[in-house]
Amino acid sequence: MTHLKKGITSKQAHVAIPEGTFEEEHGRDGFYGAVSHLYHQNSPTNWLKIKGPCRPYAIDTRKFEFGDEPVKFLFNDDVALFMFHKIHPEMFYSRNADGDWVIFVHDGKGFVETDYGPLTYSDGDYIVIPRGTTYRIVPEKESRFLMIESKSDIRQPDRGLLGQHALYDPAVIEVPEPIAFESVEDKYQVRIKRLEEFTTVTYAFHPLDVVGWKGTLYPWKLNIRDFRPVMSHRGHLAPSVHSTFIGDNFVVCSFVPRPLEEDKDAQRVPFWHRNIDYDEVIFYHAGNFFSRDGIDAGMVTFHPLGIHHGPHPKAYQNQRTKDKTDEYAVMIDTRRPLKMTSAANSALFEDYWKLWQF
Ligand SMILES: [Fe+2]
Repeated sequence: MTHLKKGITSKQAHVAIPEGTFEEEHGRDGFYGAVSHLYHQNSPTNWLKIKGPCRPYAIDTRKFEFGDEPVKFLFNDDVALFMFHKIHPEMFYSRNADGDWVIFVHDGKGFVETDYGPLTYSDGDYIVIPRGTTYRIVPEKESRFLMIESKSDIRQPDRGLLGQHALYDPAVIEVPEPIAFESVEDKYQVRIKRLEEFTTVTYAFHPLDVVGWKGTLYPWKLNIRDFRPVMSHRGHLAPSVHSTFIGDNFVVCSFVPRPLEEDKDAQRVPFWHRNIDYDEVIFYHAGNFFSRDGIDAGMVTFHPLGIHHGPHPKAYQNQRTKDKTDEYAVMIDTRRPLKMTSAANSALFEDYWKLWQF
C-alpha cells in the first residue's frame, strides 16, 4: 500500500513525538511488514479493567514444582518453553526426538555430555542441542535452566547489512571435542522423548562412545554476555535487531546492557504495540529490568498478540534520567499463539496487568 500521512504525526517514527501524544506502532509480520504509527491522546495500556484471556501475564517460574522432568509452561505447534531445576546428574542419558533444544542457563555450573563430546556450562550460556542428540546434563552445583524446544532446526540470524561479525562473532561459538567414554557399568539407559512419551533403551556399553565426528550438525554454545547489541544513538530500534536464534515461526532475542539513545528527540523506550502477528514472551535473567515493573530474575512475562504493551509507565516517565540499560533477558516471539499449561496458570502474578495503567 502507498505510504500515507493524516492528521498530527511525527516526522519520523520514535523521534520528536508530538507533545501530548503517545505513539503506537501498528504493524504486521513482527517489525518487518506493513506498518502505521498512530498518535493517541492516551496511553493504550491505561485500561480500567480487562475481562477475558487476552491480557498481559507474568509467570513466576520460581514457584513451579520441579521433579525429574522439565516443567512445560507455554507451547504451540512450533515451540515449547520449559523451566528445569537440577541438582544431581541423571542416572540415564536423554534424547529428544520432538525437537532441538536451546538450553539457557539461568544459573548454575556443570557440563552437558553429548555424543559429540561435553560442553561446560555456566550462567548465561545458550546450549543448542540438535534433535536426536544423546546427552546428559551433569550439574556441579544446583542449576536452573530455561529450555526452548523447537520443532524446526535452530539457525543463526541473517546479519544482512550489519556484516557477519555483528551481534556475535561466529568465533565465540564453542563446539564439543569428542570424548569416547569407557564402559565401566554393565548397563546404560537412554531415554528417548517422542511425542512427549518416553522410551528407555538399555545398552551393555556406554552410549557416548564416539571417537570422532565431522559434518555440519553438532551441539554448540554461545554466552549471552558475548552478544553485542546493535543500537542507534538517534532512534530506538525494534527488538528484532537483538535476534540471536531463529526457528520456523519464532525468534529468540537477547536483551543485554546497552546505552540508551542520546539524541534529545529520540524516544528511549519501546514504543506501544499490540503484536498483531506475534505473541511475546520475556524471561528475566539478571540486572535491573528497566522496561518492566514488579518483575524479578526468574520470572516470565507473556504478552499475547492483540493487547497493547509498550514502555512501562515508570520507564516512560524516567526515560531521560537513565543513560543505559543493565538488564539481561531472553525474548521469545512466536508467530502462532501460545497456550499456557496448568503449571503456568498456577504461578501467575495476578495483578501484573494493573502495573500497566497510567
Ligand atoms: Fe513487544
